[in-house]
Amino acid sequence: MDSDRLVRRLAAVVGGAHVLTDRALCASYETDFTGRYAGRARLVVRPGDTAQVAAVVRLCGEAGVAVVPQGGNTGLVGGSVPGPGGTEVVLSVRRLGGIGPVDAGARRVTVGAGVALAELQRHVRPYGWEFGVDLASRDSATLGGMIATNAGGERVVKYGTTRANVAGVEAVMADGGVLDRLAGLPKDNTGYDLTGLLVGSEGTLAVLTRARLCLVPRLPRRTTALLALDSLEAALAVLAELRLLESLELAEFFTEDGLALVMEKSGLPAPFREAHPVYLLVECAGRRDPAEELAEVLAGAAVRDVAVGVDASDGRRLAAYRERHTEAVNAAGIPLKLDVTVPLAELPGFVAELPGLLAGRARPYLFGHLAEGNLHVNLLEVAPADEEAVTGAVLARVAAVGGSISAEHGVGRAKARHLHLTRSAVDIAAMRSIKDALDPAGLFSPGTLLPPLARPGTRR
Ligand code: MLT
Ligand code: ZN
Repeated sequence: MDSDRLVRRLAAVVGGAHVLTDRALCASYETDFTGRYAGRARLVVRPGDTAQVAAVVRLCGEAGVAVVPQGGNTGLVGGSVPGPGGTEVVLSVRRLGGIGPVDAGARRVTVGAGVALAELQRHVRPYGWEFGVDLASRDSATLGGMIATNAGGERVVKYGTTRANVAGVEAVMADGGVLDRLAGLPKDNTGYDLTGLLVGSEGTLAVLTRARLCLVPRLPRRTTALLALDSLEAALAVLAELRLLESLELAEFFTEDGLALVMEKSGLPAPFREAHPVYLLVECAGRRDPAEELAEVLAGAAVRDVAVGVDASDGRRLAAYRERHTEAVNAAGIPLKLDVTVPLAELPGFVAELPGLLAGRARPYLFGHLAEGNLHVNLLEVAPADEEAVTGAVLARVAAVGGSISAEHGVGRAKARHLHLTRSAVDIAAMRSIKDALDPAGLFSPGTLLPPLARPGTRR
């Protein structure tokens, strides 16, 4: 089908204003948040409800045109943007809004895939509820994108990743059929867990349109503290003590270099009189004030200095030193971002080995979610000719110490060819069978997650 015909048919479904072909209008949908992954879309289509998504998917399927579902486009592995060929349609779910009533008895709420995380937070908090997943990009990240990537974020230590907080989904499959698992019943042993399968499928199996989310009680009393420490080992020792506290909700680390960059790019004042090698941002929350139990743990810990947030806005002030790392790194250049998990026992050794692995080919900034061993290895000033070798060296070491090459950002286009490092041939074959069964024509997100097959002519 020629492009003009496809445009006309799509416009008949979603309205002409929601089929974008103008290069300037398409631009923000074609480039990822870091600026590293920039593709070219055939067009961008913005359906307004599930029926429109289904019709769009059917039309693209008939035309043999691949579809890249996109949420807030805050992804960091190139999974939300089209490839370079100008052949793929970007299907933006941002118009799939709507938040249902808070179902207090069931502790659930139903949302459209295009709802931003911050919007959901504003909706549920007045009723005393919270969504367990939180991340720095909350104002732009959509629930659809978070579910597609099984986003982790800052509170996994207490509430788990997105998968643990999604009870059910509605999704449009490759044939245009609508899968309805929105009931999200707490007990429902009727066959395969298709909700669990679609969470983290990175837009390769279906277009998520709505979700039934689990809610947790919002804990009203919270204490945030920024700890200055000697080393990563010292941070891990404090973490081991903090994990005894049920109130622990967050344990985020960063280093002296990262803090200096954040202060330079944001203008924030220094949190302490002098610089320290490692910082740990912690937050405890409860129905009762957790300040005393946190202070007890810290009194016995090898901490160089502590800044405690006296109220919520002070807590947010301290959190900004960690949360503003991504934008500070972006402001310094286009980073090579490697989001990995390293088993905690291996973490100090891995970090100590990094300079040797990088061999002067990158300026590293390390930060992340300490309790999960989730290290964000952000590399600046990597020459294009070195990117492959640097990525390969770091990810191979992650695999060698029993880690994961993607902790929370997904595999995307960035790491598909490295998947074999931490997934076996059997594992990849099983994933490929699932892809073939649910998306036999390779309609959704080609090049994302699964490595391309060597067979000529095979579409993925
Ligand atoms: C974070 O933890 O801040 C996010 O995963 C984003 C990033 O890695 O830059
Ligand atoms: Zn993160």
